[in-house]
Amino acid sequence: MSAYEIEEHSYDVVVVGAGGAGLRATLGMAEQGLKTACVTKVFPTRSHTVAAQGGIAASLSNMGPDHWQWHMYDTVKGSDWLGDTDAMEYLAREAPKAVYELEHYGVPFSRTEDGKIYQRPFGGHTTEFGEGPPVQRTCAAADRTGHAMLHTLYGQSLKQKAEFYIEYFAIDLIMSDDGVCQGVLAWKLDDGTLHAFGAKMVVLATGGYGRAYFSATSAHTCTGDGNGMVARAGLPLQDMEFVQFHPTGIYGAGCLITEGARGEGGYLTNSEGERFMERYAPTYKDLASRDVVSRCMTMEIREGRGVGPNKDHIHLHLNHLPPETLNLRLPGISESARVFAGVDVTKAPIPVLPTVHYNMGGIPTNYWGEVLNADAENPDRIAPGLMAVGEAACASVHGANRLGSNSLIDLVVFGRAAAIRAGQVVDAAAPIPTPNRASIDKALERFDRIRHADGATPTAELRGDMQRVMQEDAAVFRTDKTLAEGARKMADIAGRMSDIKVSDRSLIWNTDLMETFELDNLMPNALSTVVSAEARKESRGAHAHEDYPERDDTNWRKHTLAWVDGAKVRLEYRPVVTEPLTPADQGGIDTDRIAPKARVY
Ligand code: FUM
Repeated sequence: MSAYEIEEHSYDVVVVGAGGAGLRATLGMAEQGLKTACVTKVFPTRSHTVAAQGGIAASLSNMGPDHWQWHMYDTVKGSDWLGDTDAMEYLAREAPKAVYELEHYGVPFSRTEDGKIYQRPFGGHTTEFGEGPPVQRTCAAADRTGHAMLHTLYGQSLKQKAEFYIEYFAIDLIMSDDGVCQGVLAWKLDDGTLHAFGAKMVVLATGGYGRAYFSATSAHTCTGDGNGMVARAGLPLQDMEFVQFHPTGIYGAGCLITEGARGEGGYLTNSEGERFMERYAPTYKDLASRDVVSRCMTMEIREGRGVGPNKDHIHLHLNHLPPETLNLRLPGISESARVFAGVDVTKAPIPVLPTVHYNMGGIPTNYWGEVLNADAENPDRIAPGLMAVGEAACASVHGANRLGSNSLIDLVVFGRAAAIRAGQVVDAAAPIPTPNRASIDKALERFDRIRHADGATPTAELRGDMQRVMQEDAAVFRTDKTLAEGARKMADIAGRMSDIKVSDRSLIWNTDLMETFELDNLMPNALSTVVSAEARKESRGAHAHEDYPERDDTNWRKHTLAWVDGAKVRLEYRPVVTEPLTPADQGGIDTDRIAPKARVY
């Protein structure tokens, strides 16, 4: 494809994405002396992690007794027994170490009276293997924890001489003919140049795909770009049917009101002023896990007990909390409520609604972040040269439902794990492979085709159609009928990508073109979500299927693998890892403790 000149770069490691996971991986790689580049479509401190509010889970025991095994148990139960046990053990065990590292790097955590890291309660985090009271496990920097982490990790990465390619949009993976990832092709948004990054290891840290839905807490940049690249490379996506709705998005605006608000004593009421969570989750009430609270809110609204003129949302009360607590612990959401809902939280409740927040599914990896080219017969086969971390990845540590504050800890534990693993498998002395020209040409052919797309459907129109279908048919509650309709409509919408119209063909700051590439990435995410959901005939975690209301461990305790080719999706399944990393007689958890059982809060 001679029409485009390509600038070439060579690194030991190229990390794509500069959120919490991407920066932690970048920092860890650079610390080990690997020549590391981070390629990111937004300025690092504007990555979506900046919006993470409530905090990061780790069993530090600063506010009372806690134990990594209690954290692990809560994560297993939160996942509705779909998480991989080795990854969940790794997360819970490594969490304190990862948080203390952040503290030493300089994250300005809130403090207790005696100077320790302040921790607050969050939904689903308990003591005594779910038998004791809620635990204060979520380490917080007021309600701006992600913001604090990003600034610290970016500064530390620069100190370690990692190189940043900022406002570069990754177009596609560069793959060898025998399936080794050799780098990534990227478009520099401010001058229109194209860049081939050759690398011994590529790490995808591109975040989730919340923008496949109409209303999401996710930034507009959350378009599942890494998942799209992986799908185009012929690799599977895993457990895409599990989409988390956060209970408290601001009604109408969708902005997040942190679960930390309920952790600090906030509570939900219906139109009768009733604290309805007491009925559904008598023990943990408003601090039950997110999927449970979101379903209960939806049921209250469906049964006519929503608030507002249309009875279509719920109230979150903070007005009983002391103003000094709101100022100290929840200043950010107090401002968000004022700006986006016109509410003074010291006087009135905030109108809230379950809103798309997180993707449990993504690129399958092991707990070192190595991407799996898995299928039913080769469930653990590694895709050489490729890693994925953070929300883009499915380790699978969250299974069917993630606990609040387990996301930030996932970012740093697995960003760090990927760096440790790269230190073992990347030979800094070996030559960097020359990226496969045929693969670059294939990526350029797609780039050029989309750039010159001259159909009849504007990008915004097709994106709106996709978002509405996903919002209606792959919602908090699903049925055979809605999912079948959703799958049919999404196949039609994905087919209409061939009729897309790009109006601006320039290469410099062309947001029309960039949004079209983002839409092309969102499509396989949306399609695989609804098709995987249609196939799963049970209810588990965030997948609440009204025709199959029970969890079915005999037939469905397994991971979905989805291959997307245009508008077609093919599914296979791989087993859940049920063995912990450490046997009980060597200090590991007793497996009886984490055996599947009814999930009540
Ligand atoms: O509610 C929150 O602060 C969100 C936290 C999370 O998704 O982990």
